[in-house]
Amino acid sequence: MAVAVTDANLPIGVFESGVGGPTVLAALRRHLPGEDTIYLGVTARLPYGTKSAATVERYAQQAAGVLVARGIKVLVVACNTASATALCALAQEFAPLPVFGVAVPGALAACEVADSSEVTVLATESTISGGAYQRALLHQRSAMRVLGRPCPLWVTLAEQGGDASALADTILLDGVRGSVMLEQTADAPSTLVLGCTHFPVFRTRLQQLLGSQAQVIDSAQTTAGSVAAALQSEGLPSNRGGNIQFLATDGMEGFQRVGATFLAEGISDVELVDL
Ligand code: DGL
Repeated sequence: MAVAVTDANLPIGVFESGVGGPTVLAALRRHLPGEDTIYLGVTARLPYGTKSAATVERYAQQAAGVLVARGIKVLVVACNTASATALCALAQEFAPLPVFGVAVPGALAACEVADSSEVTVLATESTISGGAYQRALLHQRSAMRVLGRPCPLWVTLAEQGGDASALADTILLDGVRGSVMLEQTADAPSTLVLGCTHFPVFRTRLQQLLGSQAQVIDSAQTTAGSVAAALQSEGLPSNRGGNIQFLATDGMEGFQRVGATFLAEGISDVELVDL
């Protein structure tokens, strides 16, 4: 994607429905450690993943508007549900600001590594029913068999910090394959796309449960790589110190506590925004 940035020293704007977006933020910081970022968690409107496409689009436009008003050079839609639903509307409304979503980079990465003809996308109900991931995958490889599995329990599990128990393992395997016994790993899908902000926290455990033959694609990583490549190709990365400014719309204590587990570092100051 070509980047038309007017001021390279502006921060990268990132928004998500709440506490899971810091997985994308963490990936961005690994790829672009010197970039300043401004992150908005729209915690008062959680979750996006069970809402209608029209509502998600309206919420996404309003969230993006808050960041654009503060001055950003690139918008990253960290929320998979919003990326799958509202990316075109956001790109149109805020043009020429470059807008990156997480769905297409995740799908492209899956196509690159998939050594089988089947890919399973794990995401929220809205993302799966909207079909954006499935369309992006089929656009790349039309003969591929694409399965979409809504995993609403994974969102709750991730927010509760629970990824190390027999119950958590059962919920993870149930999401991947439907009702299964823990031992039944032989027919595990070979390529999985983690199509939700919250799911990268399960990556290591999924790999252990499904074995090394399973390819687990983390769309947060691939999105960060795309943003870094786009800024680099335009000679526009900045090295302002890598500060993060956090904004949230409700539940500040929970945002700090749970968001820190997704970011894998502490979140100290959060500004309350009315949205
Ligand atoms: N951020 C959402 C996503 O990545 C998950 C949480 C929600 O449903 O709001 O799809």
